[in-house]
Amino acid sequence: MRPAIFASLLAAVLTACGPRQETPGAQRMIAGVLTGEDANDVHSRAEPAVARVTHVDLDLTADFATQTLAGIAALDVLADAPAAWLTLDTRDLIIESVTDGAGVGLDWQLGTADPLLGAGLRIALGTARRVQVKYRTSPGAEALQWLTPAQTAGGRHPYLFSQGQAILTRTWLPTQDSPGIRQTWSARIVAPPELTVVMSAEGLGSEATGEGAKAWRFVMDRPVAPYLIAIAIGDIAFREIGPRTGVYTEPVGIDTAAAEFADLEQMLRTAEALYGAYRWGRYDVLVLPPSFPFGGMENPRLTFATPTIIAGDKSLVGLIAHELAHSWSGNLVTNATWADFWLNEGFTVYIEDRIMEAVYGERFSAMLADLGWHGLQEELRRLGGAEGADTRLHLDLTGRSPDEGLTSIAYEKGATFLRTIEAAVGRARWDAYLKDYFDRHAFQPQTSQRFLADLRQHLIRDDAALDNRIGLDEWVYGTGLPANAVRIRAEAFEAVDAAAQQFAASGALPQATAWSSAERVRFLERLPRRLPVTRLAALVTLLDLDGQRNSEVRHAWLMLAIANRYAPAEAQLEHFLTTQGRRKFVLPLFTALMEQGDWGRPIAQRIYARARPGYHAVTTGSVDKVVPLGAARQ
Ligand code: BES
Ligand code: ZN
Repeated sequence: MRPAIFASLLAAVLTACGPRQETPGAQRMIAGVLTGEDANDVHSRAEPAVARVTHVDLDLTADFATQTLAGIAALDVLADAPAAWLTLDTRDLIIESVTDGAGVGLDWQLGTADPLLGAGLRIALGTARRVQVKYRTSPGAEALQWLTPAQTAGGRHPYLFSQGQAILTRTWLPTQDSPGIRQTWSARIVAPPELTVVMSAEGLGSEATGEGAKAWRFVMDRPVAPYLIAIAIGDIAFREIGPRTGVYTEPVGIDTAAAEFADLEQMLRTAEALYGAYRWGRYDVLVLPPSFPFGGMENPRLTFATPTIIAGDKSLVGLIAHELAHSWSGNLVTNATWADFWLNEGFTVYIEDRIMEAVYGERFSAMLADLGWHGLQEELRRLGGAEGADTRLHLDLTGRSPDEGLTSIAYEKGATFLRTIEAAVGRARWDAYLKDYFDRHAFQPQTSQRFLADLRQHLIRDDAALDNRIGLDEWVYGTGLPANAVRIRAEAFEAVDAAAQQFAASGALPQATAWSSAERVRFLERLPRRLPVTRLAALVTLLDLDGQRNSEVRHAWLMLAIANRYAPAEAQLEHFLTTQGRRKFVLPLFTALMEQGDWGRPIAQRIYARARPGYHAVTTGSVDKVVPLGAARQ
């Protein structure tokens, strides 16, 4: 044991003493063993300073009867001689054997399992540089959701999908599950012949296996963070949108999805014009069954998206602009650890706005940014304002789940910081910097500290006054919202805000038929939380709240209805909560119900008992903490 401990200590000391040596060009894409800040991920057992995974090759069979993936993960490893061990992250995996590339057994040991982080798999590496782990997943693997045919739109075939971010990839494959440890990967996936397999990689086609199944092959030749390895299997059709873009979903939804995303190619071209060439080949969107727990997930080449963004009028495609933006911020330049999650999401919200502005106009993008500002104010209040430790962009998540960093701070304070820099240096200079930034850091992990150093070197140069005016360190390491925060105000909201005020005061009904979904959401959010019952009923007609297809409007309405214990909305609430499982909608609604004591608690428990079997583990994991089901729970 000792030599390896010594080696990692030595590496740590060496990096502490001086700047990291950067190798130019493509070699930098997978640098040597990982040291310093990037290796210091409190959410991973990996010891990349000792030995690090550079490539993952999966050969897995999907068994819908037992709800398991089983097979081999073969890992290529980089280690300095003398090599000692390789540590992988696993959680709820059943490890059957570990061998080297030639099939010779290697000693291995699973550490104690932590409920959040899982168990480290420590493999005696010796001179081996390829390691084959034979394993299977457990039916409860948190990344995976196995859907019965009844839980799909078509109703005839089962479905499987994964969600890796933040630290769930280790529940379906053994690797070093840290965002700073980039890996190329490839896969062969065996599935029932009537189903289609898609992954966040280039598809190389499928062939019959001889045993009545089909094997699908994939390759991702750019190094990615492991949370971006993703799979879906089901009755999935494809429709082309542009030369590089298209949409996958169950056949019954393909026409509607293709119509909703008709502007995909234009969004892609817009993003490229701003931030440089798109480096992932194709950009497709997979629209998942309604239990997908997030709005969208930026899996490379293949964004995963909730069907709740299909509003019928493109009003929620901002979410696609967001996931597309991650092709630069997040997938190309990646937060080294979850403490710097804002580097992924804050940049992405900023870029999302820029794409939306260029494609749909400033009037519309300003509304989205303004809604974000409102969300940020609420989040700041919830987190204790200027006193709240978690209102910092750079977070300390030691001993906590990365989920605790999943707040509007990372998204909206992060984006506001970048808008503030933009305002200070001017758009032309900022745009040029950002494009260059993505190029210089492409395929590398990033930290707050290195971003600030890069800003100072390449944008601020030696302008101390400018540095002070922006207040770089305060933005990243300070709490609350700095006084120079740039706020985007939507002109269109002035009339809406005035109308909300009047309606609340007197019940006067505004002319709302022409309002966009964003204006409807704004109106609902601006109303006082308590309103007379007659006024609530008038709202339903005014905003067509029973007929709404836009899920954000429905959600905003149901939040208001719950705050007022408005019984006529209960059926719609139950429908909404049992027909989709997006955590962003589901969790606040159940929380609000529980806050309504004797009125809301029984409703929450009754609906959750019905809805829970349809939700993904990411969603039940959060709602379980809020709604106690007791005996009703399975
Ligand atoms: N990468 C996130 C989703 C995520 C974050 C999953 C952290 C797991 C852990 C994705 O890009 C995202 O931000 N999705 C948002 C939509 C967006 C428009 C704000 C969502 O799912 O609501
Ligand atoms: Zn995002």
